[in-house]
Amino acid sequence: MANQIILDSARTFGEFCLLPDYTPKGCSIQTVSLETKLADNLVLRTPFLSAAMTSVTGYEMALALGMEGGLGVLPTRLSIDDQVEIVEKIKRREMGFVEDPDSVKNTQTIEEVLRKVDKHGHSKIPVVDKNNVFLGMFTRRHYMEVGGHPQDLVTEVMMPLDSDDKLLCHKDPTIKIDAVRSLLEESKHDYLVVLDDQNRLEKMAFAKDMKPILVASAISTHKDWRARVEANIKTGVDLIVIDTSDAYNDFAFDIVTEYKKIFDVPICAGNIVTYEGAMTLMKAGADIVKVGMSSGSICTTQREKAVGRAPLTALMEVDRARKDYLKKEHDIGNKDRYVSVIVDGGISSAGDMVIALTVADAIMMGNYFNKFYESAGDKLNAEGNPTGIESEIKSVITYGEGSEHARNLERYGHTDMMTFFAEGVLSKVEYAGRMKPNLKADALRIKAAMVNAGCMTLTDLREKATIELMSQYSRDIVSTTHDIDNKR
Ligand code: IMP
Repeated sequence: MANQIILDSARTFGEFCLLPDYTPKGCSIQTVSLETKLADNLVLRTPFLSAAMTSVTGYEMALALGMEGGLGVLPTRLSIDDQVEIVEKIKRREMGFVEDPDSVKNTQTIEEVLRKVDKHGHSKIPVVDKNNVFLGMFTRRHYMEVGGHPQDLVTEVMMPLDSDDKLLCHKDPTIKIDAVRSLLEESKHDYLVVLDDQNRLEKMAFAKDMKPILVASAISTHKDWRARVEANIKTGVDLIVIDTSDAYNDFAFDIVTEYKKIFDVPICAGNIVTYEGAMTLMKAGADIVKVGMSSGSICTTQREKAVGRAPLTALMEVDRARKDYLKKEHDIGNKDRYVSVIVDGGISSAGDMVIALTVADAIMMGNYFNKFYESAGDKLNAEGNPTGIESEIKSVITYGEGSEHARNLERYGHTDMMTFFAEGVLSKVEYAGRMKPNLKADALRIKAAMVNAGCMTLTDLREKATIELMSQYSRDIVSTTHDIDNKR
C-alpha cells in the first residue's frame, strides 16, 4: 500500500465563500489597497502576474500589465536575446510621455465617450476641437459627480480648461520628464496635459507612469539558466522566475542555492504543491514560491499521469510550510526573512481571485490574460482566420507550454524529444477585449469583497479573513442565479 492515502478531498477556490466581517467607516472601495510586497524592492500595485506562457506573455502583455502595477513573466521559450530585448524596451518606456494620446471631439456625446473609455479602460480622456485644440478633460469621477444625459455633448460634463484649479496644463512641449515629475509631485495631480502655444494637445504624462514598470523573466532548470539570468539582470529585470512544472527536485534546489550566492534580484521558484516541496525551496533561499500543478486551464497533467493537486489545498499546504519555516527563521534571529507565495493556475474569475488572495500574496494567470488584445496568442476572426483588425477579433489562440505545439521540454523535465509526451493542449479562448478595463473591473470586485470583510489591505485579508466551504447543493444556490429565466 502507498505510504499515505489521504481521504480528505482536496479543494479549489470556487467551493468557498468569504464571510463578511465588521467594516469600519474608513474602509471603502476608495481606500482599500491591492498592493502586495513580493520581496524587498518588489512591490506590485496590483497582485497579478501573467503566466510565463508563449501564448500569453510577450512585450504587449508585459508592458500593459506592468503599467497597471502587475507583473508580466516572459516565457523561457523566448530566446535569451528576445527576453532581453523586451525587458530593455519596457525599461526604456518607463517614465515617458504618452505622445499622441487618445482624445475625443467636442461634438461627441457622453454615450460615445463612455463607449471609448470603457473599451480602453481610460479613467480620463482629453476633449479637443477639430483643430486638436484642448478644451477640457472628461474624467469618469467628475462625470459620476455631475451626472448628465447619455445624449448630451461631452462638453457638458468635462472639466473645462479654464477650471484650472483642477487641470494641470503646461504650455511648453519641450518640457523634460524630470520637470513633469516635480510638477506632479508638488501639485499632487495624477496627470499633466502638455499643450503648444495655441493650446493644441501635444502629449500627456501620468503620475502612475512615473513609477517603474516591473517585468520578470522565466528561466528553466536546464542548460542556459545562468547565461539567461546574467543577461536579464544586466538589462534590469525585476524578478527571475524558475519555471518548471515540478520544482521539488535537485535541479531547482541547486539553482536557487547557487543563485542566492551570486545575485541580488529576487528569485521565485516553482511550481510546487506540497508542504515538503515548499520547505525545500524556502530552505534553499527562494524569495517567492509558486504553487500549482494540474490546475491550469490548458493542462492535461492529471489526465496523463494522475499527478497534481487541487489548487486551494496546494496553496494551504504551502502556506502551512511557510508559517513553520518563517517561525523557525524568526526564532533564530532572522527577523527580516519573508517568503511570499504566488498561486498559479485555475483562476479566472474575480471570485476565485478573492478566495485565492485569502492565502496567496499574488496570483498568476494564463487563461485570464490570454483572452485580451495584449496577449501574445494569435487573434482569429469569426471564420477562425488570423486577423490584425481589432474589431474583427472573436477568439485568441491558447496553448500550454507542455503541448505538442509548444514542446517546452525543459519545463517538464525532458532532455530530448524521445521521452516527450504532451501535458497541455492547443485551443482557443473567446476574445474579451482590452486588458485594462477588465482588470480594473475585477480589481474593483476584489476591493468590494475586501470591504465586506473589513480588510484595508491584502495582508489584512490573509490574516483576518474567514472562508467557508459550501456543499454542492449550496454552491448551486449561492454561487449563481436560480429559479429565474437567465436570458433576461
Ligand atoms: P491558467 O491560468 O488556468 O490558464 O493556468 C496557467 C498556468 O498553467 C501557467 O502559469 C502554468 O503554470 C501552467 N501551464 C502552462 N502550460 C501548461 C501545460 O502545457 N500543461 C500544464 N500546465 C501548464
